[in-house]
Order: sequence, then C-alpha cells, then structure tokens
Amino acid sequence: MGGTLSMADKVVLITGGTGGIGKATAIGLATMGARVGITGRDLARAEQAASDIRAASANSAVDAFTADMSSQAEVRRLAVSVLDAYPRLDVLVNNVGGFWAHRHLTADGLERTFALNHLAPFLLTNLLLDRLKASAPARVVTVSSGAQSMGRIDFDDLQGARNYSGQRAYNQSKLANVMFSNELARRLDGTGVTANSLHPGVVRSNFGAEDQARWFAVMSRVILPLLKTPVQGAQTSIYLASSPDVVGLTGQFFANRRNKRPNKLAYDTNITGRLWQVSADLVHIPY
Ligand SMILES: NC(=O)c1ccc[n+]([C@@H]2O[C@H](COP(=O)([O-])OP(=O)(O)OC[C@H]3O[C@@H](n4cnc5c(N)ncnc54)[C@H](OP(=O)(O)O)[C@@H]3O)[C@@H](O)[C@H]2O)c1
Repeated sequence: MGGTLSMADKVVLITGGTGGIGKATAIGLATMGARVGITGRDLARAEQAASDIRAASANSAVDAFTADMSSQAEVRRLAVSVLDAYPRLDVLVNNVGGFWAHRHLTADGLERTFALNHLAPFLLTNLLLDRLKASAPARVVTVSSGAQSMGRIDFDDLQGARNYSGQRAYNQSKLANVMFSNELARRLDGTGVTANSLHPGVVRSNFGAEDQARWFAVMSRVILPLLKTPVQGAQTSIYLASSPDVVGLTGQFFANRRNKRPNKLAYDTNITGRLWQVSADLVHIPY
C-alpha cells in the first residue's frame, strides 16, 4: 500500500539535522507540512541548516536546537528546550550517530561511540517519552545501520576500554539502537507510541569524517559513485515517520522502506533488558 499521511498538524524532532541523512529527512517531512525541529552542535550551523530546510520545503515552521549530544548534561538541556518549545511531539527521529577510528572519551568520561550513538538517543527518548505518550499516536524512529548485523554487545567491555576497534564499537552501537528500539516497543505496548529502527543504506555524507580509518577513506573514494544520496538515504526515515503503511507497527527493523529481519540478538529479551538496565544506570534514570 502506498500513500502519504498529511504531516500538516504534526511536530517532528530530528536529531542531527544539519547535514547528511538528517537534513534530507527534515526537508522531506517539512515539505509534507510538519513543524520540524533539528539539532546540531553549533548554533550558526544549525540555524543555517534550518534556513536551508525552510527554503527547500517552502515551510517556515523549522526550528534549530543546539546540543553536543555526547554530553548527558547537554542532552538533558536539549530535552528541556524541546519540552518548552513543543506542547506536543508526534515523531522523534533519533538520527545522530558517528564513527571514530580511535577511542575518544566524552565529557562524562564515556567512550564516544557508545555514548553518542546509543546512550544519547536512549536518554533523549526517555526524557521526551511522557510528551510522546500524551501526543499519541506518536512514533519513535531510530536510525541504526546494516552494521548492526555484525554487532554484539560486550557487557564485559561495553566501552572498548580493553581493546578498542572503531568498527566493533560502531557495530555494537548500531545493534544497541535496534535492541533499544525493540525493548522500547515492548515497554510502550498499549500506549499508542510505536518504536521502529532502520538501515538508511550506504550514503554519501559527512559520516566518519572527524576521525576516519584509512581503509574507510580509500574505500569511500572508490565506491563513491555507488553510494546513495542523502535524499535517497532519508527515504526509510521519512517513511517510518509519516506513512500510513506503518500505523500501529512497532518493534520492527526496516531497510529500503521494507521490513527486514535484524540481528537475531535483537530479539533476545534477556540481552535487550540487560542493555536497558545498564544504559539507565549510565545515564542516571530509573530502570
Ligand atoms: N552515511 C551512511 O552510509 C550511513 C550508513 C548506515 C547508517 N548511518 C547512520 O545514519 C545516521 C546519520 O548519518 P549521516 O551519514 O547523515 O552522518 P553525518 O553526515 O556525519 O551527519 C551527522 C549529523 O549528526 C550531528 N552530530 C554529529 N555529532 C554530534 C554530536 N556530538 N552532538 C549532536 N549532533 C551531532 C551532525 O551535526 P553537527 O556536525 O552540525 O553537530 C550532523 O547533523 C547515523 O546514525 C549513522 O550511524 C549512516
């Protein structure tokens, strides 16, 4: 079934909307009439992106929020700003994510891949959950990756302190996205809020540029013509945020707008429940 739900009276927050897949997602949903909030680390960059999105979508209802989401204090400040600005929130798109070839620590002393890719959407979603429930039917869409299929959760060394590999950390964080989404779907059963995750495809963007592995830089140049554009990469996020096809559908993983089976570990409720508990401890929220 095709079709487009009108987003005219909907409010959507997209993390990481200053470039790449997030900005293209924002343009798509703003074009459908939604009020769209985007986030980025730098005020000037976020405001420039908001202005670009307004122009591209012919929709003036685009707001810029700033936060370095690798910091829990900043995620909490962002949540307060969003709750102040938006009396209702229909869709949250957890899009921010990155790859680092070397191990870096955040302001909270946590490994950055795990902190930004997993703990930030985990904390932000939990802080916005009551507003999403009050706005039901509402949707939480989390951008994972095909890399989730190679991931496993190393509870003995979640933050790669003993043996860091950028790829392993990324795979783990993207599996954590799917596990978080699945566990969230279970916890939200009966609330009218759905939670789904997705692989956007391999997309030409700024992804991984801050600290790129050499093989990644070489490979990216070689396969550049084969990569999706950000607009193509945004299609599954836009679909899950807006389509009537997925009304009521929850706890699912998508790629190319199709339901796909993710890593089988994502269905193991012992692991997803344990990850939820460890994550809640790390961001200091009740389990
Ligand atoms: N590109 C791909 O091939 C690919 C494939 C599979 C999955 N994905 C996933 O798709 C998502 C989007 O990736 P992309 O390719 O669009 O990446 P991108 O071009 O690097 O964009 C990342 C966005 O996140 C923001 N951001 C980065 N670090 C941040 C931080 N510490 N705090 C707040 N915002 C931050 C950036 O904003 P500022 O720099 O302005 O702060 C930017 O808006 C990620 O979750 C990624 O894992 C991408």
